[in-house]
Amino acid sequence: MPDSSAPQPIWLDFKDKHRCGILVGSGFLDRLPVLIETHGAGVLTPERKVLLLYDSAVETHYGARIDTALRAYNVIKHVVPAGEGSKSFSALEALCTRALSAGIDRKTLVIAVGGGVIGDLGGFAASILLRGLPLVHVPTTLLAHVDSAIGGKTAINAASGKNLIGTFYQPHLVIADSATLASLPRRQMIAGYGEVLKYACINDPPFFQWLQHNGKSLLNEPNSDATRYAVAHCARKKADIVLQDETEHGVRALLNLGHSFAHALESAYGYSDTLLHGEAVIIGIVLAARLSRQLGIAQDPQLEKTLTDHLASLDLLPPVAIDTSALRVDDLMATMARDKKNVGAHFNVIALRAIGDAFIYKNCPPEALRAVWTRFLASNGSLS
Ligand SMILES: NC(=O)c1ccc[n+]([C@@H]2O[C@H](COP(=O)([O-])OP(=O)(O)OC[C@H]3O[C@@H](n4cnc5c(N)ncnc54)[C@H](O)[C@@H]3O)[C@@H](O)[C@H]2O)c1
Ligand SMILES: [Zn+2]
Repeated sequence: MPDSSAPQPIWLDFKDKHRCGILVGSGFLDRLPVLIETHGAGVLTPERKVLLLYDSAVETHYGARIDTALRAYNVIKHVVPAGEGSKSFSALEALCTRALSAGIDRKTLVIAVGGGVIGDLGGFAASILLRGLPLVHVPTTLLAHVDSAIGGKTAINAASGKNLIGTFYQPHLVIADSATLASLPRRQMIAGYGEVLKYACINDPPFFQWLQHNGKSLLNEPNSDATRYAVAHCARKKADIVLQDETEHGVRALLNLGHSFAHALESAYGYSDTLLHGEAVIIGIVLAARLSRQLGIAQDPQLEKTLTDHLASLDLLPPVAIDTSALRVDDLMATMARDKKNVGAHFNVIALRAIGDAFIYKNCPPEALRAVWTRFLASNGSLS
């Protein structure tokens, strides 16, 4: 039954006529069926199967509420351990086996409730089970609200690297409930903030100014108007870029601002909790600003200082204390050289002319990158 009190989704209309809605609000978990039916993911009936995926942390905080909301339906529930380890072949196999043995058919709706790990695993499974099942994402981390739930990238990790096996597969609906962020550990909020800051730095100076005024509320009050404003704004920004370049052959690469540096650091720490992805992105954006200044690209002489002042005002300079004494510039450079965005021996990085003016800088001189890393290691990761 249509729900007149439902908020209006942000719509992504793809060239192949697929349509994906993004709902941003609060208190959605208890209303999942009506939101799904109202916004294009099809009618739920007691016969239609629902493959429900979440992780153990989501189960602790929200399992009972989600189960209650879906109690009238034919739910196949699958819970995986929290953490990156669940983006594995074995977790994918267990999920697919469970779904198939429970008798899914092509109408079965996959609902993935969780952070980027659950979104990536659930999205990948949805894309390959019976050659594609309808999919709804219910992101529960800030990172998933503003980034991973939007855009249709799915992946699991391989022994040789992260996110190397996956698909592009668009969900029908993304239901972003800011109330779920209330239970999120602060470090995870900070990690999500890294991606929020990224959008501002790519092409949105007014949004950066907004963050200068509202960043604190966003971090300190996850279930607030400030959070919902930022999530909706970032969702629109990601949607804009994805619609221009769904499979990352052009402008979508800008979304990797800070990420070449971030991936090198994450890899150095073995993708462990020592350094979360979004924390690494914050560091990476500062390093991209530094590189841009050093290369004479930055037209704004205050670029790096404006950025670091902002981070300091949020107590995010650095976003996390890391000990870099065991890291080596050669190793960081070698990881960067393997980055998917590099073609041949050339380093392609996202550079900044100013905050809100990012571009793809091709053939970046390696010595400039080495200089950035050398200074970073000399300061033991403090960003000073
Ligand atoms: N597909 C994409 O476009 C895309 C984009 C960015 C990142 N990613 C992927 O996303 C993953 C990172 O996502 P993430 O940061 O959301 O990590 P995550 O899914 O591991 O969640 C972080 C932690 O928070 C817990 N958690 C989740 N929701 C919670 C809640 N509401 N309350 C309390 N705890 C909660 C999780 O159990 C986990 O321990 C990585 O695997 C990355 O590769 C994918
Ligand atoms: Zn990222």
